[in-house]
Amino acid sequence: MSDFDADTAVPVVGIGPGGDDYLTVGGRRALRAADVVVGFTSVLDYVDGHVTDRIDCSYDDQTARLDEFGERVRAGETGVAVAMGDPNCSGGQFVARVREAVGEVRVCPGVSATQLAASRAGVSYDEAAIESLHKRGDCVAERERLRAALPDRALVVIPLPWQTMPEDIARELLDAHPEAGGREAIVCESLTLPAETVTRTTLAELGDDAGGEASAFSDLSILVVRAS
Ligand SMILES: C[S@@+](CC[C@H](N)C(=O)[O-])C[C@H]1O[C@@H](n2cnc3c(N)ncnc32)[C@H](O)[C@@H]1O
Repeated sequence: MSDFDADTAVPVVGIGPGGDDYLTVGGRRALRAADVVVGFTSVLDYVDGHVTDRIDCSYDDQTARLDEFGERVRAGETGVAVAMGDPNCSGGQFVARVREAVGEVRVCPGVSATQLAASRAGVSYDEAAIESLHKRGDCVAERERLRAALPDRALVVIPLPWQTMPEDIARELLDAHPEAGGREAIVCESLTLPAETVTRTTLAELGDDAGGEASAFSDLSILVVRAS
């Protein structure tokens, strides 16, 4: 028996940051063995070559699509759900929805984009404060923890696409800690994918571009602030 077998529980497989090298061996095996794989279209597209039958979700139709998945699993099909990166990092809402649709799930960790970002930035993962703003709500507690951590630690932050982008996070941090303007800020985009870009700047330069019409970065971005 392996974590990746769809036996009594439906595996929720973390597919990694997108590059095929970072999909685990067990995750790949689970996808290939599945009768049906459910996930957001943006996630399924990265693993399409390993999937025979997929149920695509969008933010608008995910409840109905997950119910459809649940019915097929209850009818005896082997079902697997997929999440970006590691489902244990900023993936809790999706995992909860899959659980609601199918009953028991087993989370199969993947390589998180936050790990890749820390690696590109040369930041030790266990010493950094890691926060996701990619959630419903205003993330008051997460923002407070980031402000509190900035003086002493490196930060690894998942932005909220198109609402709280890396420039906005830099501005917020500088409003609380103006003395941190010289800290190195690294924005990692499309990690492990052909379009991967790593932009190295300072918190002050990044914050100067906050609040404009459009961010310089894509929705697939992670901000790292190195420790001083
Ligand atoms: C809902 S969070 C899920 C994070 C995921 N569970 C993980 O562990 O990487 C989605 C966000 O992760 C970040 N992300 C995911 N894959 C990425 C990649 N390949 N490069 C850069 N950022 C990525 C982006 O900020 C994206 O908006």
